[in-house]
Amino acid sequence: MTKIFFLGITGYIGGTAAKILIKKHPEYDITALVRNSDQADRVKDAFPSVRTVLGDLDSLDLIKEESSKSDVVFQCASADHLESVQATLDGLGSQQKETFYVHTTGVFHFFGSDFQPDTPTEKVWSDVDDMKEIHNLPVSQPHGPVDKLVVSRGGYENVNVAMVDPPAVYGKGTGPIKTRGTLLPILVKASLLNKQALKVGNGSPSWSAVHVEYLGEVFAWLFEQAAVGGGNVDYWNENGWYFAENDTYNWADIAASLAKIGQAKGYFESSQVESVNLDKAKGLFKDEAWVVSFLPLTLGAGVRVKGDRLRSHGFNFNSPSSVATLDELLDSEAASLGIEARRN
Ligand SMILES: NC(=O)c1ccc[n+]([C@@H]2O[C@H](COP(=O)([O-])OP(=O)(O)OC[C@H]3O[C@@H](n4cnc5c(N)ncnc54)[C@H](OP(=O)(O)O)[C@@H]3O)[C@@H](O)[C@H]2O)c1
Repeated sequence: MTKIFFLGITGYIGGTAAKILIKKHPEYDITALVRNSDQADRVKDAFPSVRTVLGDLDSLDLIKEESSKSDVVFQCASADHLESVQATLDGLGSQQKETFYVHTTGVFHFFGSDFQPDTPTEKVWSDVDDMKEIHNLPVSQPHGPVDKLVVSRGGYENVNVAMVDPPAVYGKGTGPIKTRGTLLPILVKASLLNKQALKVGNGSPSWSAVHVEYLGEVFAWLFEQAAVGGGNVDYWNENGWYFAENDTYNWADIAASLAKIGQAKGYFESSQVESVNLDKAKGLFKDEAWVVSFLPLTLGAGVRVKGDRLRSHGFNFNSPSSVATLDELLDSEAASLGIEARRN
């Protein structure tokens, strides 16, 4: 039976991936790291077959021990926690058989000074054609130290790695605890508080985007390959870097749709969009520290990627577009703010 050690099952992406995986493969033997007994109870309620162990990413002995007993380790808790990744690789590497590590990174490693509002996103990174450049990104880039460690496989030849590199993730999560995404919910929340849809600058830059359930299906596919001993040598290691994307949006289109839907639902007086400069954006999003720290990339610029590798392996899954999720998102963000739609 395939044994999987899961880091991040309480999260937006991890919880959704777990739900998809367990539905498809109830036979997999999953152990999940959770911080406390409350999280353990909530995970057990949602997924009774999952065994939980208490700890956090600094519980290095525990992570190494669990990894040394697992066929696959899935990391979806942090893209930057170097020590826990090292402990995982040490645990997997200590075994006398082929093992698998599926890591979640993120396209913030492309963050650069050229990301400015109103600069169209021309470069589209390919996980086939641009791999040399991607592998040579400076270690000083966001996620750089962990990305390099994962690619090195910790020096263990029996550890096979896959790097899943999502752009903007959207859609409602289906896991047991966190179900809210990041960029679109934050924009929608700020627009509701502003009583008018917002964009930073003229909104021309674009983000590639992936629906959270599409991403969950990508992870499930990788676990299925690991469960049969890897499936194909082309799926792992130097060939195992995957952009997962099924949609592209630019901020101007998102804001225009948001304004229209928001007005129709009675949240906004008008269907006009307010364009704000970076200084005003910093104030509007001040409660979301990481969004502000990565402005303008987060809400004013973007990164475009192409999931050529998954497509070449025949991966195909239909998901709603980003714009199609805005209606439900407006209602859920309004509900959490206690804002009621004006009756027309
Ligand atoms: N969401 C996106 O748009 C996006 C895009 C690209 C890449 N990513 C990457 O994907 C990963 C998951 O993102 P997400 O949106 O699913 O985040 P999330 O909802 O915050 O999930 C992360 C989960 O990991 C747990 N966790 C984090 N640090 C931990 C620690 N030190 N010890 C124990 N548990 C810890 C958190 O538990 P607690 O709740 O208890 O803290 C949380 O449940 C991250 O590495 C992120 O950078 C996300």
